[in-house]
Amino acid sequence: MKSVKKIIKYLLNSFTNNILLNNFLILFKLDKNWNRTLNPYLSYKVNKNKTIQEIAGYSEREEINEVLFKSKKNLIEEIEKSLTEQDRILDIGCGPGMYLSLLKNSNYKLYATDINEDMIALAKKNVPEATFYQGNFMSISMPVTFNFIYCIGVFVYIRRSEITSFIKKIHNHLEPKGILYLNYPHAISIGDLLYKDISYIQYSPTIIEKLIAPYFEIIEHRHAFDNRNIKYYDKQPYKSLNPATDRTYKNSYLLIAKKKL
Ligand SMILES: C[S@@+](CC[C@H](N)C(=O)[O-])C[C@H]1O[C@@H](n2cnc3c(N)ncnc32)[C@H](O)[C@@H]1O
Repeated sequence: MKSVKKIIKYLLNSFTNNILLNNFLILFKLDKNWNRTLNPYLSYKVNKNKTIQEIAGYSEREEINEVLFKSKKNLIEEIEKSLTEQDRILDIGCGPGMYLSLLKNSNYKLYATDINEDMIALAKKNVPEATFYQGNFMSISMPVTFNFIYCIGVFVYIRRSEITSFIKKIHNHLEPKGILYLNYPHAISIGDLLYKDISYIQYSPTIIEKLIAPYFEIIEHRHAFDNRNIKYYDKQPYKSLNPATDRTYKNSYLLIAKKKL
């Protein structure tokens, strides 16, 4: 029964999410209308038996723990380097608050947003001192600006025709010289460059730089795990150790940029 379901899902996916159709949708900016069906977090229900790390979307395998250890250390170092006490930090797509909880009991003012109700509820429980806004980052209204905005593991869920507005919104909510810290699973095949899957877009760093350039001065853009230089697409990606998927968060790029005045 399970394998029949898998085959039906595979067939449906091949008909509704393929290079030809996806490029047509992107060209006519129709992909954003598919957001409701494409963003898995709109209807995601948190399984309370899972760990915070698993709820955030990362498995508990050793290689992923290694990636997250580095990524958490890096974020904190960057925040400490850039901010002073009472500065305001925003976490876009905070999930259950795994990264936000690293800043618990700090002297920064914490803010977070997430599209998913359960995620926000869990993050609130983990970091009660933060201010939360639930909803799609594209449509929520936040009457505040920030000194540092970070967004980790979220860009894959942002449609191609929405990504410029997403970046502009981040720019509008940053203080002058405010910092954007973006960690995103990047393109690892030609298929990714051609938008083979618009429900999980592994963007090319070239596209990200082009879209960010009018609003931000790029300080650093590199492989988040092994510091390698960015490439149009990564020809030597890490292999997933999970047989159920070819995705691994080990394949993520890190971009740090300063708001242009
Ligand atoms: C893979 S999880 C990462 C969670 C967290 N950033 C972390 O790395 O631990 C992606 C998160 O992004 C949120 N998300 C996806 N699309 C969003 C959107 N348009 N606006 C706000 N949050 C969004 C999801 O609900 C989910 O919690």
